[in-house]
Amino acid sequence: MTQRTLRWPLPAHDYWSTPFAESLLRHLDLKQGVRILDIASGHGIPAFYLAEQVGQTGLVLAVDLSLHQVARARAIQGSQLPWLRFDCADMRALPVDLPMFDRITGNLSVMFLRPNRLAAVRCLIEHLTPGGQIVLTFPSLGTFDSLWQRVDQQMVRRNLARERARFQEYLTERPSVHDARGWLESLGLERIDAVEYPLEVATGPGREFLFHPLLRGGFLDDVYECFEDQSLAEQFMNGIAEQVPQFVPLIAQRCVLSGWKRI
Ligand SMILES: C[S@@+](CC[C@H](N)C(=O)[O-])C[C@H]1O[C@@H](n2cnc3c(N)ncnc32)[C@H](O)[C@@H]1O
Repeated sequence: MTQRTLRWPLPAHDYWSTPFAESLLRHLDLKQGVRILDIASGHGIPAFYLAEQVGQTGLVLAVDLSLHQVARARAIQGSQLPWLRFDCADMRALPVDLPMFDRITGNLSVMFLRPNRLAAVRCLIEHLTPGGQIVLTFPSLGTFDSLWQRVDQQMVRRNLARERARFQEYLTERPSVHDARGWLESLGLERIDAVEYPLEVATGPGREFLFHPLLRGGFLDDVYECFEDQSLAEQFMNGIAEQVPQFVPLIAQRCVLSGWKRI
């Protein structure tokens, strides 16, 4: 791809979606004129970037379940990049009349392919042309393990058996890089890559940890949800927040899963 000034770079200030999208782009064979389906597109990372790269001879259909995200993406787009379209759709049950695509991308998507991720990936691949590539990213098993070990240890120490059982369910539900590779192998894809790139998420103790925009938006909420008594959850998490120096660095694993459909 020729070097030129990008009008739609990945946003530099985004310290989560952008690093995952960068790892996705390392594996994606991206060129002018290809047709891309971008799933779990959110407000357009990396759909805008992809649309600029494929140019007006290609197309990008970006789908997200959330009307709010689709509206947000459309507002950013305005009348630009007319070969890029944002639509509301469930990526686990795409409309059957959807055309075929040369590439399927999904940044930070695999976690939402629940409950049957293999079946969901199989349906996605039905919309991939023979010879086409699928590239998905997600934070794989191992992400923030130092934090989860601390949570588990403290739950044992405080005899929080019910909360711990729920927490264990949450932990075992997370897919690993090996699980992900297995899905593509069992679906008969070729040239499969399942690779992890570590990413450190910096945080201090106390409120900085508890209200960290990335952690509180999802990962920590999963721990709070293990508690029926939310005041107990607050008290428990305040204790964890004080112990941050004992479980940093917090490392996420950016897993990229890529494969090609046989011709
Ligand atoms: C972590 S965000 C990633 C958004 C974007 N790709 C990015 O990298 O910033 C996950 C997105 O998946 C969407 N999502 C969740 N479940 C979905 C589903 N079943 N079908 C389509 N989108 C879904 C959410 O609405 C959210 O916008």
